[in-house]
Amino acid sequence: MSRPKIAIIGAGQIGTVISHLIALRHLGNVILYDIVKDLPQGKALDVQEASRIDGFDVSIQGTNTYEDIQGADLVIVTAGVPRKPGMSRDDLLTVNSKIIRSVAENIRQYAPEAIVILISNPLDAMVMLFQKVSEFPVNRVMGQAGVLDSSRFCTFIAQELSISVKDVNAMVLGGHGDSMVPLVYSANVHGVPVMDLLIQKYGDENKAQHMMQTMVERTRMAGGEIVGLLKSGSAFYSPASAAVAMAESILRDEHRLLPVCAYLQGEYGLHDLYMGVPAVLAQSGVIKVVEIQLSPDEKNAFQSSALQVKSLITNMQKLNLL
Ligand code: APR
Repeated sequence: MSRPKIAIIGAGQIGTVISHLIALRHLGNVILYDIVKDLPQGKALDVQEASRIDGFDVSIQGTNTYEDIQGADLVIVTAGVPRKPGMSRDDLLTVNSKIIRSVAENIRQYAPEAIVILISNPLDAMVMLFQKVSEFPVNRVMGQAGVLDSSRFCTFIAQELSISVKDVNAMVLGGHGDSMVPLVYSANVHGVPVMDLLIQKYGDENKAQHMMQTMVERTRMAGGEIVGLLKSGSAFYSPASAAVAMAESILRDEHRLLPVCAYLQGEYGLHDLYMGVPAVLAQSGVIKVVEIQLSPDEKNAFQSSALQVKSLITNMQKLNLL
């Protein structure tokens, strides 16, 4: 059986870490594309030269030519401009829309059968734009956000409870912006509700609620926290890990249920919209969007997050970007 071919568009911070993680997990051969001359070749060579040490024999090749992505099974799009301190993801709308449009046209031409995972921000709007321009079936176009946001939420819970993160399960749904929706009531440690553990710790329900709310807010702002610390550029290790988890579920046909920016066709009462929802990822892409019970508060938060995503889409239309 031949190895999967994985194209990564954008050989910046996230794209390069993704290529290393793909190699470490032996997921397939990588084509790393960027518009900047020599950059993807240099990054690819650097990762390839770790092969003897890390024990991988997949090939990592850099290119400035879209023809080289021909036959790709999976394309991960990281092309775009990252945030600067003080910017929201939505501030990237105009600049990244133009980039994603050209990326979509090229993927449509050179890798028409590929499954596509987007990472570029503002995520939900960029995924919608990509799908409309490429005209790919909606199950083959998705965005990475929820796996990362959920991992951030789990990290904060584990730190707060002094418990291994391995046993923490918590999901973040909605748009990948400040309106995202960390699910509080279903957050658990091996089935034990996080709220119960917080009440045990603080001996007081109000204090426990307050701590949970603090973690929810930190999760919503976690990307900005990193942008503020880095001063230039945004998070890249954790977004890369999140994208590779999705890629692995697709390439190995794992059928994982993950929070995915997926296309909604009536689920959660929403139509013609990409948003973070639980979805099953397998060889053909998103094979199912899963509707789960939300508390009344979570339902309201999810619907206002949808309004936020819709207003971004409207802005794109007004600016003639979509
Ligand atoms: N085609 C291909 N690559 C492009 C294009 C294009 N039209 N325009 C820009 N790029 C490349 C840049 O040359 C750069 O190498 O995209 C890469 C982006 O890398 P970084 O600037 O390091 O950004 P990164 O941190 O990887 O984030 C990429 O993901 O999380 C989001 O908000 C983030 O939108 C940003 C994207």
